[in-house]
Amino acid sequence: MMKTKSTTVPKVIGHRGAAGHAPENTLASIKKAHDLGVGWVEFDTKITEDGVVIVFHDDKLERITGVSGEVTTTALKDIQTFEIGAWFGEEFSGERVPTLEQAIQVLADRGLGANIEIKPSPGLARKSGRAVAAVLNKAWPDILPKPIVSSFEAQTLEATREVAPDIARALLVFKIPRNWKDLLKRLDCDALHAQAKHLTANKVSAVRDAGYALRAFTVNELAEAEKLFDWGVDAVISDYPDRLLPL
Ligand code: G3P
Ligand code: MG
Repeated sequence: MMKTKSTTVPKVIGHRGAAGHAPENTLASIKKAHDLGVGWVEFDTKITEDGVVIVFHDDKLERITGVSGEVTTTALKDIQTFEIGAWFGEEFSGERVPTLEQAIQVLADRGLGANIEIKPSPGLARKSGRAVAAVLNKAWPDILPKPIVSSFEAQTLEATREVAPDIARALLVFKIPRNWKDLLKRLDCDALHAQAKHLTANKVSAVRDAGYALRAFTVNELAEAEKLFDWGVDAVISDYPDRLLPL
């Protein structure tokens, strides 16, 4: 039987907003997902030196900002001086690294749901989980469906549970580990978020038969999404969610 704590999630979720169409993890990318007709987005979060939760994937600044340095040793005010949209296309020029609160405002304005992935920098697993949960407790609007938090880090999920026990948790994995059932139970998760390329029909059935939702990342081709849905996958996370919406 499917556990009921989790919120209702559509079959197609935009990855890092809609990262195939706009610079990843920006407000423009979240808005683009909505413009494409997507109901939910996934994006990555971590904390700055001054403890603010931002929407950002890497530990290092370089790939996205072009500047060397670590997120964990850089303050929000300095991170937000970087322009991070123009590399993707001139129309995105002027984008800045958003805070989680800024992203939530965009979600609220558009009625978008969200899977908020927490990507702690080294040594900050628990602190990052607590920080994200605290923002969600404070700023998540009642008008939106309850969010889902996910992480590859068990400690991070434990920390979110301590601060925001009512927010549904999903464990992220690349390959499904042998002890997946014990992990999901211990962390009181509703769902497993697994890398699509390692899934098989049997693995999908096992997870779903145990009562957990299974969502797959990152799925950009229609044929792959069709196969996964045939196997029983509940949702796919996609850079090009518009390609999959017909499903
Ligand atoms: O949440 C699914 C997916 O985003 C996990 O991998 O590296 O794209 O954040 P990554
Ligand atoms: Mg992610």
